[in-house]
Amino acid sequence: MRPHPSESKVADIGRAVDGRRIVNETEGWMRGLIACRNNLSPATPLRGARITGVLHMTAQTAVLIETLSALGADLRWCSSNAFSTQDSVAAAVAKARSASIFAWKGQTPQEYWWCVKKACTWPGGKGPNLILDTGGDLTHLIHVGVDYEISYERTGAPPPHLLGLEPAEESAVILNMLRDQYLRNPAHWRELVQEVVGVCEQTSSGVHRLRQRESNGSLLFPAMSINDCITKSKIENIYGIKHSVLNGLLCALDVMLAGKTVLICGFGDVGMGCAMAMKAAGARCLVAETDPVRALMAGMEGYQVTTIETVLSEVDMFITATGDSGVIRMEHMLKMKKNAVVGNMGHFNREIDMESLRKYPGTKAIEVKPNVQRWTFQDGHSITLLAEGRLLNLICGTGNPSLVMSIAFTLQVLTQAHLWKNRNLAQTLPTVCVPPRKIDTQAALYHLPCIGAELTVSTNNPISSNEVL
Ligand SMILES: NC(=O)c1ccc[n+]([C@@H]2O[C@H](COP(=O)([O-])OP(=O)(O)OC[C@H]3O[C@@H](n4cnc5c(N)ncnc54)[C@H](O)[C@@H]3O)[C@@H](O)[C@H]2O)c1
Repeated sequence: MRPHPSESKVADIGRAVDGRRIVNETEGWMRGLIACRNNLSPATPLRGARITGVLHMTAQTAVLIETLSALGADLRWCSSNAFSTQDSVAAAVAKARSASIFAWKGQTPQEYWWCVKKACTWPGGKGPNLILDTGGDLTHLIHVGVDYEISYERTGAPPPHLLGLEPAEESAVILNMLRDQYLRNPAHWRELVQEVVGVCEQTSSGVHRLRQRESNGSLLFPAMSINDCITKSKIENIYGIKHSVLNGLLCALDVMLAGKTVLICGFGDVGMGCAMAMKAAGARCLVAETDPVRALMAGMEGYQVTTIETVLSEVDMFITATGDSGVIRMEHMLKMKKNAVVGNMGHFNREIDMESLRKYPGTKAIEVKPNVQRWTFQDGHSITLLAEGRLLNLICGTGNPSLVMSIAFTLQVLTQAHLWKNRNLAQTLPTVCVPPRKIDTQAALYHLPCIGAELTVSTNNPISSNEVL
């Protein structure tokens, strides 16, 4: 049964008409995903599957949700970032009864985690069979929920490793939530895990968290790394970012990039996309890297590879794209050029040490315009901070273009259907896998017409366009 809009929590359901207009327009740019929907929906390959999605609640995500729904899934959804929801779009999806939506723009940490919990709890208490995660927050919640129950049963206290989680404010919220749930049903998370067939993780930071669990033997269900598909890492993460980093910067600042000195911290696929955009815009682009291989690649592309400390005083714009924390710290911000721009493209909002900046004695922030703040220090010098250290392409701009999201979301749909189809295959030890190569191939095939490409078919090794599912 399709969920009634009253089950959702969005900013204003009255904005559904505006949201629907945006979703319809976006469908026109996601022809590959729509072709996949039209091709697979008659067979409803996701019939019977309860899916929880944790992914930025944007117009492109709405097209993904409505594709999964057309394939037969029963969906609950929340955003993977407290600030990335397009409120009218969230209203449109809830109104259309395509999914129960728990998302609005500008959530407190309590609200954010409440939404994650609601999205994985069906009326009657059941959890998801399949998870579509971005950054791994839901996967993390389920795992710490299980840890909490086991520890409480054995020792009467939460596991010590939960108490030291960062950031402290979020870990307090999670602990409270787990405590409340434990009082209502002390086996809730263990029961929920029994029915999880697997998770498809969208982004590199989430895959990193999954691989940590895999290596220490604590992973509780199979995981698919969408990020490791070629059409994701080498197309969305490079060319999508190349487009959206510029879009975000220009929406925020309307600044001339030619002639500026820009430091990109991290030369993974996302950092590479940022560097390509800066170079193409005429900026002088520098790169900071911790991995010797990626540093060498950056050098081979003609970027000066350096450290943030070496070039602090000459850089006009700093962009982080590492997935790491504390990449730009107080000691750096204090010595930057006057009004240097500081922004983040990585998934977590801890690449720039915002906590220390907020607490630093004598600092003052004023809002120059939405998502652009000027922070002034006691000595009078100042920096310009974008989106309070959150993903600048999504918060200041409109995120990656619909075409590349269509490719990544087609991978998601095909991988969810693959997991559901093979749900009864026993896995002795859950692992993190890359989806089968034929899923990559199929996602590419759906999108070749979108760029007017014609494929050469080898007579020795033909590709069948019907080979998946
Ligand atoms: N903004 C978006 O739309 C978007 C899209 C996809 C991925 N992401 C996120 O962007 C981040 C980067 O993604 P990726 O796919 O390039 O990851 P990646 O792991 O391939 O690359 C990260 C790079 O940063 C380097 N690095 C790590 N710590 C560093 C430090 N302290 N200083 C300098 N370099 C450092 C690593 O060596 C690595 O080469 C992740 O958090 C990912 O989730 C954002």
